[in-house]
Amino acid sequence: MKVSVIGLGYLGATHSVAMSKLGHRVVGIEQNPAKLAELQKGNAGFFEPGLDQALAEELKSGRLSFQSGHDQTSADADIHFLCVGTPQSQGSLAADTSYLYSAITDLAPVLKPDSVVVGKSTVPVGTAKLLTDKLSELAGFSAQLAWNPEFLREGTALSDSLRPDRIVIGVASDLAEAKLREVYEPMIASGVPIIVTDLPTSELVKSAANAFLATKISFINAMAEIAEVSGADANQLATAIGYDERIGNKFLRNGVGFGGGCLPKDIRALMARAEELGVGQAVAYLKEIDNINLRRRVRVIDLLKKELGELSGKKVLVLGAAFKPDSDDVRDSPALDIALLALEAGANVLVHDPIALAGVNKKHPELATEKDLLTALNNADAIVLATEWKEYRELDPMLIADKVKRKFIIDGRNVLNREIWQAAGFEIVSLGKG
Ligand code: UDX
Repeated sequence: MKVSVIGLGYLGATHSVAMSKLGHRVVGIEQNPAKLAELQKGNAGFFEPGLDQALAEELKSGRLSFQSGHDQTSADADIHFLCVGTPQSQGSLAADTSYLYSAITDLAPVLKPDSVVVGKSTVPVGTAKLLTDKLSELAGFSAQLAWNPEFLREGTALSDSLRPDRIVIGVASDLAEAKLREVYEPMIASGVPIIVTDLPTSELVKSAANAFLATKISFINAMAEIAEVSGADANQLATAIGYDERIGNKFLRNGVGFGGGCLPKDIRALMARAEELGVGQAVAYLKEIDNINLRRRVRVIDLLKKELGELSGKKVLVLGAAFKPDSDDVRDSPALDIALLALEAGANVLVHDPIALAGVNKKHPELATEKDLLTALNNADAIVLATEWKEYRELDPMLIADKVKRKFIIDGRNVLNREIWQAAGFEIVSLGKG
């Protein structure tokens, strides 16, 4: 089939490669000239294991190409995938859907009546209906619009796109269903379950999935708060409750909490949308999920103060800036927030991360960064492990003991072996442990 992919950020770049890998002819549309130039050279523009290589291969195959706007090639597409961002709005909890409206405004003049427009971005429930009406008005005919949320995780984006746990499609016509079944045929044939539903259900599925994942993490972090004051161990607690199949052991790692470009903004957008619909109470608990999550960051600052007293003049080394390992994404990163809170409290903060420092320097030039780990450790009064990169998990405390000024480490991700660190003379505080 012929497809266009509009907006080539994390979602769109990955989706365009996945579609090309399935054998479709794909034209990706990206308005940002710098980003477009990188994509045309085979660089996705962000760190995602395996993606650049796959991108280069697909470009070479001739099935995939990128351009700045619509033309005859994109107009011929059977399906136009909308993959633009829906970030949190400035000054409110709601999602900003304006990029979707820009995308359909650009698309309308070339849209053909039998082409299907498929939204993949995460949106407030009800958006697809509004977009259908707007697009029909702009195009001058009844536009075919469907919704098909994407559940990919950063770090495993391409394999998540090619082998998802399920495909969800929200459709308002047989034509849209038929075209989506055709485009995903190789995945459906390999056994990926497909759920065909209406537009609002498909939109809400994505918000609900992310809200549930956030709920699991904040639940275990709430238990961690109790464990810390009662002498219990939240890690063992998670293992014990996780054996119950109804609970499951995934997404129950306590620590400094969740971040990234999706979970935080998506739970806030769901709260805002429910409020708009007059059913805010249905998801009022999400406010507490967000609060628990943000409290974990403050907890680290409290622990630093407890150990070091006044933070002013103390060197605090934050290990990690990305919101999770194998990513250079610092959006809403707990690690970065902890660094900023420590800076605000007067500490002399230094941030290390294997790959995400460019993003830190750009977004927060007020934070000092160091790319060499051993140099970063020099004279530290305290270390905070905030992102569980492999090189931190494998750090040998014996080798660094004489570099730091004070042997004190907070394990914000529960990944260090306490006995080994204690044997090297460190005081180690693991979150979630009494
Ligand atoms: C998430 C969803 O998993 C994905 O399905 C959706 O499409 C986009 O949002 P992603 O943002 O890549 O994906 O990150 P994810 O792997 O879900 O982790 C989110 C955050 O939760 C990270 O900061 C991670 O460190 C944290 N986390 C995860 C925990 O604190 N504890 C856990 O047990 C699991």
